[in-house]
Amino acid sequence: MGKIGIFYGSTAGVTGEIAEKLVEHFDEDVCDLYNMEEDFDDFDDMLQYDYLLLGSSTWGSGEVQNDWRDPLVELEDEKPDFTGKKIAFFGAGDCNCHGGNFVSALGILYDYFKEAGATIVGDVPTDGYTFKSSFAVRDGKFVGLPIDEVNESEKTEERIESWIENLRQYFPQ
Ligand SMILES: Cc1cc2nc3c(=O)[nH]c(=O)nc-3n(C[C@H](O)[C@H](O)[C@H](O)COP(=O)(O)O)c2cc1C
Repeated sequence: MGKIGIFYGSTAGVTGEIAEKLVEHFDEDVCDLYNMEEDFDDFDDMLQYDYLLLGSSTWGSGEVQNDWRDPLVELEDEKPDFTGKKIAFFGAGDCNCHGGNFVSALGILYDYFKEAGATIVGDVPTDGYTFKSSFAVRDGKFVGLPIDEVNESEKTEERIESWIENLRQYFPQ
């Protein structure tokens, strides 16, 4: 059975903490964790996995976290082939102060990795989230898991639990 790679970019550590919680839901020998800042060298790191969880917080006005910038340029230039890979996205945002671009980075990652051939899984209904708009909403759903530790930290655990439940149909136990 294929292994799972979790790759995340996190400036203040929030998305990193989410990533660490996600790891706990999978068997230790099945799942590896990469901080984009320290552990990512090139896309071969990702292509060794059939299942990927990719995390980015959103910064600026709806942009990806800094450590994703160069890799996304590389992705566009080198066009590694993600055909057959199952990818799900997650990331932290702030629906109150940044409700016009809430977790928009997930939408940016979605566009890049879909273009690269990946099968995207793990969309999340917008019910229960309060925000104005988001580049991460497609066909009425978020393309991945939004977490808001600034305003709704009490919902984090439950959001992670139900997302993982949904992912189990696509990802190994
Ligand atoms: C300058 C600045 C810009 C931000 N821009 C956005 C944004 O566009 N959309 C959003 O949802 N959150 C935005 N945020 C909120 C961060 O994504 C949020 O604080 C998140 O928890 C940071 O996660 P990290 O520690 O993993 O980087 C912004 C925060 C700051 C300080």
